[in-house]
Amino acid sequence: MASTTSFLNAVAIRRSVYNLKNSSPISQARIQEIVHEAVKYCPSAFNIRSTRFVTPTTFPKEVYDLLVPRIELFRAAYGIVLFFDDPSTISNVPLVFHPFFTQYPEIHDHAAGMLQFVVWTALAAEGLGCNLQHYQPGITPWVKEKFDVPEHWKLTAQLVFGEIVEGPGPEKERTGLDEAVKVFGGKE
Ligand SMILES: Cc1cc2nc3c(=O)[nH]c(=O)nc-3n(C[C@H](O)[C@H](O)[C@H](O)COP(=O)(O)O)c2cc1C
Repeated sequence: MASTTSFLNAVAIRRSVYNLKNSSPISQARIQEIVHEAVKYCPSAFNIRSTRFVTPTTFPKEVYDLLVPRIELFRAAYGIVLFFDDPSTISNVPLVFHPFFTQYPEIHDHAAGMLQFVVWTALAAEGLGCNLQHYQPGITPWVKEKFDVPEHWKLTAQLVFGEIVEGPGPEKERTGLDEAVKVFGGKE
């Protein structure tokens, strides 16, 4: 199912939304479909596709028992996507390219970030409120046991989502754009 929101518009409307409730404007099937599409089409170095996901259909709220009270707000949300990296996928890459991953170990984080952004933006385009969290390593042992996750998977982020109660807050300042983008030369 194609979204009617154009890509850049979807990028522009994606925000961090924290005040969420335990419902969703779209079905579980559609949420799962979005995650699968993101995995299928997101690029990764040498097409290694090392990012792994757990998308529980029932939000395991007891995770919040492990966290500081500030996080309590998110207990009210509908779902969570847990992002992991599987470093063993390096074995799918020809040996000759392995030094690349040694020299740029952060490349896995780049790929993970791309996927997190795609899933976040796509869910937001469907009307869900989302916020990206980094509860690890505090919740890592619980997550691995709860979802029978292989020991070598590395938990990288959690996307909390649900129907929006309120927010996002006011538009954030988009300062420093001139410093961020330098254009040299160019065509008329
Ligand atoms: C790599 C990355 C890590 C982030 N980690 C957190 C986090 O741990 N907790 C949180 O509440 N927000 C987190 N955020 C959200 C940012 O604070 C937020 O995206 C930024 O302030 C811009 O606001 P917006 O999302 O409303 O556009 C993270 C964002 C990125 C891109």
